[in-house]
Amino acid sequence: VSDPAWSAVDEYLAGHLLSDDEALTAALANNKAQGLPPIDVSAVQGKLLHLLARMAGARRVLEVGTLGGFSTIWLARALPEGGKVVTLELEARNAKVARENVDRAAVGDKVEILVGPAKDSLAAMQPGDPFDFVFIDADKQSNAHYVQEAIRLGRPGTTIIVDNVVRDGGVIDAGSTNAQIVGTRRMFELLAKEGRLDATAIQMVGAKGWDGFVLALVL
Ligand SMILES: C[S@@+](CC[C@H](N)C(=O)[O-])C[C@H]1O[C@@H](n2cnc3c(N)ncnc32)[C@H](O)[C@@H]1O
Repeated sequence: VSDPAWSAVDEYLAGHLLSDDEALTAALANNKAQGLPPIDVSAVQGKLLHLLARMAGARRVLEVGTLGGFSTIWLARALPEGGKVVTLELEARNAKVARENVDRAAVGDKVEILVGPAKDSLAAMQPGDPFDFVFIDADKQSNAHYVQEAIRLGRPGTTIIVDNVVRDGGVIDAGSTNAQIVGTRRMFELLAKEGRLDATAIQMVGAKGWDGFVLALVL
């Protein structure tokens, strides 16, 4: 589902609220040149992540799903000196492009990219130095698991964002056999009963179509 007006409005908003950004433009160009799909967050949503991480006073960020590091750059720029984004990516090819992009954006020292299935990377992490902010944007069928891991590796007050939870309205299709929709619905069932979180979700339209995100707070 899409409407040209949604992209036009995103362009209008970005034109007024986002400055020209050589590093982010170069990152998207590099992604395209190296064959990565254009499934990064939109520019205005990247800025939203950036602002939310700043509002949360985040020092340590966990990202599940790096792709070429577009959202990673937005998040890393929100961090103070000594801050860190730990970002998890299945594909070594994507991680290599992301490393190029975050280094070009001069945030490379704030970004650690872990390659492999996110479930394995997460299982190897011990709570101790908790994450302040978590952005989940990988294989949607695993979203419930990633939310539980975000709680385990977070602390009371940790912000959790889960992207792509509306999926052209597919989220309300109880009979769907689409693994991403089934996984998204399973995540909402978890959120409904998970007493360690308080959450809401917002649907939106824009350059990336009709979708939405969950915003949750660890209690
Ligand atoms: C939507 S893209 C991430 C976009 C990125 N957050 C951005 O906005 O720039 C999803 C990424 O998750 C990765 N991914 C898929 N399954 C994964 C898994 N099991 N573990 C880790 N990463 C995975 C994909 O390879 C892809 O790069």
